Amino acid sequence: MIAEFNRIAVIGSGTMGSGIALVFAISGIDVALVDIDQRFLDNGIKRIKKSLNRSIEKGKIPKEEASKILDRITLTTELENATKDVQLVIEAIIENEGAKKGLFKKLDSICSNDTIFASNTSAISISTLADVTKRPSRFLGMHFFNPPQLMKLIEIVKGKKTSEHVLNSVMALCKRLGKVPVPSNEAPGFIVNRVLWPFLNESYKLLETNVAKKVAIDTAIKLGLNHPMGPLELSDYIGLDVMLDIGQYMEEQLGEEYRPAEILVKLVEEGKLGKKTKEGFYVYD
Ligand SMILES: NC(=O)c1ccc[n+]([C@@H]2O[C@H](COP(=O)([O-])OP(=O)(O)OC[C@H]3O[C@@H](n4cnc5c(N)ncnc54)[C@H](O)[C@@H]3O)[C@@H](O)[C@H]2O)c1
Repeated sequence: MIAEFNRIAVIGSGTMGSGIALVFAISGIDVALVDIDQRFLDNGIKRIKKSLNRSIEKGKIPKEEASKILDRITLTTELENATKDVQLVIEAIIENEGAKKGLFKKLDSICSNDTIFASNTSAISISTLADVTKRPSRFLGMHFFNPPQLMKLIEIVKGKKTSEHVLNSVMALCKRLGKVPVPSNEAPGFIVNRVLWPFLNESYKLLETNVAKKVAIDTAIKLGLNHPMGPLELSDYIGLDVMLDIGQYMEEQLGEEYRPAEILVKLVEEGKLGKKTKEGFYVYD
């Protein structure tokens, strides 16, 4: 039997968590959006309202529907109350293995045995995360793309012990959300980031070794490969801290040819994380 989903929780109200919460609320599912501090929740709901307003302006969502969508999202810092009676928890906190393991251990002691756990990790092994819980068969990766409300793809990552039943239930849920779920076995970076990381890292090296200026690199890739964004623009959009976390994990798992370029490390050390801090490879108003 395919599991029913009418109440879920999303942990982390950053770039991804806020967008994921919106995707579910638009599909009529109640969402508890959890973060460690009210100010992160305030930023999250600001992003959600901005995105909803854009959809109203474009005529994609009727104005009277927007308040119903917002009513389905509960913002909270109380992890226990938010997660104890949900059918699915999606983790979208920082890309740090220790932080994710700590959270899942805690969730495992709070949530009902039936609750499915999903991680939105960009690269970390699903089995490693699943093994800190007593429910590895009810644990999988749900890797959304940025921005979740617009991007159709969700990589559904199967851990070593994920059950077929859980996998099929979550695949069906993704289709109900209007998304295209693509199953993948686990491997560092899954499908998209396995290909994306070396591609973006090479563009950083081109800049670092002065082969070309940043606008030249982005223009060449956009026109030469017919990509909607250049690699440096795209990195600023994703977040340079997120890219560095992915790169360091890939290097650790796959070897030194995946080592992040110096220029990326330097920008992150300087707090230049891309669009979210108004400066990365480019400066934003
Ligand atoms: N940014 C992207 O384009 C992108 C795309 C796909 C997947 N991801 C993955 O999604 C995850 C989140 O990325 P993001 O870009 O949204 O990060 P982000 O830094 O924008 O947001 C992370 C949020 O998690 C919160 N948080 C941290 N620890 C927490 C905890 N213990 N409990 C509750 N909240 C906590 C932070 O306060 C912050 O608001 C990462 O694993 C990342 O690799 C990111």
